Amino acid sequence: MEKTLNGFKSTTANIPAGYDAIVIGSGAAGLYAALCLRSCYRVLLVTKSKLGVGSSKWAQGGIAAAIATDDSPQLHLEDTLNAGAGLCDRSAVDFLASNAYDAIASLLDLGVDFDRKDNKLATTLEAAHSRSRVLHSQDTTGRAIVDILAARVLERPNIQILAPAFALNLWRDPQSDRCQGISLLYENQIRWLRATAVILATGGGGQIFAKTTNPTVSTGDGVALAWRAGAILRDLEFFQFHPTALNQPDAPHFLISEAVRGEGAHLVDDEGRRFAFDYHPKGELAPRDVVSRAIFNHLEKNARDPAMARVFLNLEAIPPEKIRHRFPNIIQTCRQWGVDVFAQPIPVAPAAHYWMGGVAVDIANATSLPGLYAIGETSSTGVHGANRLASNSLLECIVFAAQLQKLELEPVDLQEPESFGKVRGDWQGEMGEIEAIRDNLPALMWHAAGICRSRSALEEAIAKVSFWRSRLADLEISQYCLHLSPEENLAFESETAEEHLKLAAETMNLLDIGHLILKSAAFRTESRGGHYRIDYPDKMDSWQVHTIVQGDRLDTAAMDND
Ligand code: FAD
Ligand code: SIN
Repeated sequence: MEKTLNGFKSTTANIPAGYDAIVIGSGAAGLYAALCLRSCYRVLLVTKSKLGVGSSKWAQGGIAAAIATDDSPQLHLEDTLNAGAGLCDRSAVDFLASNAYDAIASLLDLGVDFDRKDNKLATTLEAAHSRSRVLHSQDTTGRAIVDILAARVLERPNIQILAPAFALNLWRDPQSDRCQGISLLYENQIRWLRATAVILATGGGGQIFAKTTNPTVSTGDGVALAWRAGAILRDLEFFQFHPTALNQPDAPHFLISEAVRGEGAHLVDDEGRRFAFDYHPKGELAPRDVVSRAIFNHLEKNARDPAMARVFLNLEAIPPEKIRHRFPNIIQTCRQWGVDVFAQPIPVAPAAHYWMGGVAVDIANATSLPGLYAIGETSSTGVHGANRLASNSLLECIVFAAQLQKLELEPVDLQEPESFGKVRGDWQGEMGEIEAIRDNLPALMWHAAGICRSRSALEEAIAKVSFWRSRLADLEISQYCLHLSPEENLAFESETAEEHLKLAAETMNLLDIGHLILKSAAFRTESRGGHYRIDYPDKMDSWQVHTIVQGDRLDTAAMDND
């Protein structure tokens, strides 16, 4: 067997039918979760691209922790609650802020190299933080963390890695309702794997929107899998739109970190006017939802064609030496797309960035289904409320994954490997329709459930998504994506089967989360944090509740304000 950063290349012959724990995803949450599980447990880590590929690796600004002498977990808690617009669970935020110091200490122990100034850990300011508390490693903090975590995971003999391997569905015991494993697409086969604990660490779902800072793996798979298995989901309408993604023809929506504004950059319109203070007294450093809406509204009011319009990030107020030192990746990527940050302002526009909603979990990461846990962006711990405070998500991944050190697992009920049914697996004729849905869904969602939402646009989109879901359900390939008979593993003969199944399964997941986001957004008739309704523009006390989804049930749930 070969151990590399591209994965632990297991042959299908050495995949047992059961593990103590299966971790799905290899971002900060999945990698750290695998490391925290006791080394006596046999752990399988599956990840649908190369090891470490995900949003975590792209994180720029940093990781928040109150380490400065003028700072405290209490101040961090207050800033998080303020940004969360009344929807954070206080006990979860308290847990996050009070464990931040230990999380950083653990990352340093593992070898993460944060920037230092005068021999001390350096920190920076980001929007809605009252203190400079964001630790960073230049503008590639995520890479610094993920590369170290991945290297440590590769050293651990109890962790087996399958990459690329795609988790298709959760395996629920119909008698006990327990999640007892997963179905996995790996090397042209679908196999059922048992586990005492299944840990979803599949990240966010930014690919549901036409404009997103997220990588292509962020298709909301964990939320869709959990929903189909009957777990409780929470606050799905809350999506954070980052104000400053690169907006250049043909370029990806590459993130221009909030830390650039934290270091002093100004937002200006095409006449060079600094407009953010027209919308909030904190200007560029107001909470993200406020700045994103400020840009949206400013363009609606002032631009001749708002769809084509953009604003700019002017870096003139930051000394060039500091830009060079702090933002080498941003300099290089902008240059690649024809923008010289030293000579011109960077064209930017908002893009979908972070999903506050997710699979509801308690402080020990347990979901409503016994045996199923969720960590990182796919979970809803209650720390982000309606709008996440910058740099709190990497922290959440580490603080909550650390809870798995306490997890005690019964030995897995190992059964003999199943035999494989053979299937041709040729769905070429169906792929055109799937590709068309996959291409059109993000634009529909951006229009209906982007920065500004309204009942009519949401309802139209719900009808369209329902139509696409029924079209997809009628295709033969969908039966294999769902393939709900654990008594049978399947081996596909066609060489294209795996690629096609993955595309179909991701499209199904995107349609499921799209449907749930739209329904939740139509249900919440107010505006709060990342959810803005032009037909209900005010925040309402009566809506200071979570929304929860379980199957077809959409309801509210009281806040935990202990
Ligand atoms: P990810 O890192 O996205 O990992 C998800 C993993 O799950 C991936 O390995 C993926 O391949 C795998 N996966 C998904 N579905 C399946 C499946 N069906 N089967 C198998 N594997 C699957 N937050 C901060 O705190 N600070 C920052 O500076 C910061 N900057 C950011 C910059 C960018 C550009 C982006 C996009 C986000 C940023 N965030 C930042 C947010 C933060 O990075 C993420 O919320 C966080 O890293 C999520 O970690 P995760 O482990 O939950 O998910
Ligand atoms: C950024 O660097 O602006 C992203 C930080 C975050 O999303 O927390």
